[in-house]
Amino acid sequence: MLRSVILALGGVFLAQGVLNQSAFAQMPAGDPAEGRKKATMCRTCHGIEGLAKIPIAPNIGGEPASYISRQLIAFRAGARTHEMMSVVAKSLDDQTIADVAAWYAEQKASATLPAGKTDAQAPETCVACHGTEGIATMEDAPNLAGETVMYLDTQLKAFRGGKRTHEIMSDIAADLSDEDIRELAEWYSGIKLNIEKAK
Ligand code: HEC
Ligand code: HEC
Repeated sequence: MLRSVILALGGVFLAQGVLNQSAFAQMPAGDPAEGRKKATMCRTCHGIEGLAKIPIAPNIGGEPASYISRQLIAFRAGARTHEMMSVVAKSLDDQTIADVAAWYAEQKASATLPAGKTDAQAPETCVACHGTEGIATMEDAPNLAGETVMYLDTQLKAFRGGKRTHEIMSDIAADLSDEDIRELAEWYSGIKLNIEKAK
């Protein structure tokens, strides 16, 4: 049952992936070296290599360029809102978005489970896309490893309440209780994220 739901979601996911790719294809090519310079605008909150500096901001180093661009475009357009990011995104043109996305995507993310935890304990409804250790297995899904409980809780409740929308995540979050959200957030938050800086 669970498996078929996930497979059905996977179908939606693939269809949506095609759309995302065409939107992304309209973006100019990103230059990571330019992106590194422009990332001085982002470093107080996300770090220069994408390891977050404040608990309400997510780690973005090693996320796919398409995911980073898509979120920045959503903030700029008002489809996703946040008091800080909406302001930042309004000032970004397409080239800047492509460049910073290329820079952050170039960092390499990996994860380490905390002592005493095994992959088998990972939340089974999430692993198909976000991986057992919170390193995404699909291009359009973000890494969750090492995000704070606060950030994960905010996002899951935003999907559940409709403040943030996404074909797959809105449906998944709709079924989660506050307690489920807490447990899921604790699993992914407990994992150590390592970001290896690009040369
Ligand atoms: C003043 C702090 C601040 C600055 C500066 C800032 N951000 Fe953010 N950013 C945030 C916060 C907070 C969030 C989480 C928003 C939310 O809760 O939805 C976020 C979210 C994001 C996300 C979504 C990530 C995800 O996993 O969904 C991306 C991508 C992002 N920021 C990129 C950038 C880039 C690129 C810059 C520089 C051009 C930047 N941000 C500058 C605070 C900041
Ligand atoms: C079929 C694939 C799929 C499954 C299963 C799935 N997700 Fe997601 N998830 C995604 C995608 C795709 C996104 C990006 C949404 C967007 O673009 O706004 C996402 C985004 C998220 C985010 C926002 C992260 C960020 O950086 O802003 C969180 C948190 C999240 N998922 C948690 C979960 C949890 C917890 C589960 C299990 C209960 C789960 N997801 C199951 C595909 C999936």
